[in-house]
Amino acid sequence: MQISHYQAADPERIRGLFARAFSDAEGEAEGQSVGQLAFELVANQGNHDTFVFVAEQDGELAGAIVFTRLLPANDVSAFLLSPVAVRTDYQGKGVGQALIRYGLDALKAEGVEVAVTYGDPNFYGRVGFEPVSESVLPAPQPLNFPHGWLAQPLNAGTLPLMTGPVRCAAPLDKPEYW
Ligand SMILES: CC(C)(COP(=O)(O)OP(=O)(O)OC[C@H]1O[C@@H](n2cnc3c(N)ncnc32)[C@H](O)[C@@H]1OP(=O)(O)O)[C@@H](O)C(=O)NCCC(=O)NCCS
Repeated sequence: MQISHYQAADPERIRGLFARAFSDAEGEAEGQSVGQLAFELVANQGNHDTFVFVAEQDGELAGAIVFTRLLPANDVSAFLLSPVAVRTDYQGKGVGQALIRYGLDALKAEGVEVAVTYGDPNFYGRVGFEPVSESVLPAPQPLNFPHGWLAQPLNAGTLPLMTGPVRCAAPLDKPEYW
């Protein structure tokens, strides 16, 4: 399994991976929706606001993760990890955690201060994320599951205070994702 920073990411290839993994896990409609989200985030690449990391086996995508910049009102450098997918037949083999660890190391090397995500604390807790209060890290949209709002400092022992409003990438800035 080869993990790399997918710098010239092909948005259609990324859409296919997310659509398939989420269709298998949560049904066809969710697959189409997350596939479209991943497509839009990756199609917007080409600046310093998006990082895509992939796991490949024999030239095929086995997993992918997308980080996009969060813009707080102060100048903390932060990225949101979302979405994350591992192809169904590769799940449960450590690919997801290896991909996320690789991505976090790469962001740290770029001087990013904070990684943020929104998901299952049991899974993301394995790669260093901890629940964070919205008073320390305001969310871009009202949260339906505040217990899934998670973050980790990358270059310091404690999370820097981020002041709101916090903006996220436009494709993610829709109430249904939060
Ligand atoms: C979630 C996902 C990315 C994990 O990737 P993976 O390569 O299967 O994960 P790893 O092998 O690194 O880690 C597996 C561990 O995480 C746990 N885990 C896997 N998916 C989980 C989920 N959705 N929620 C909570 N825990 C999960 C497993 O129980 C497993 O624990 P175990 O080793 O004690 O059995 C992958 O299963 C996936 O793409 N699922 C469908 C899409 C999805 O739900 N993505 C969003 C995640 S919030």
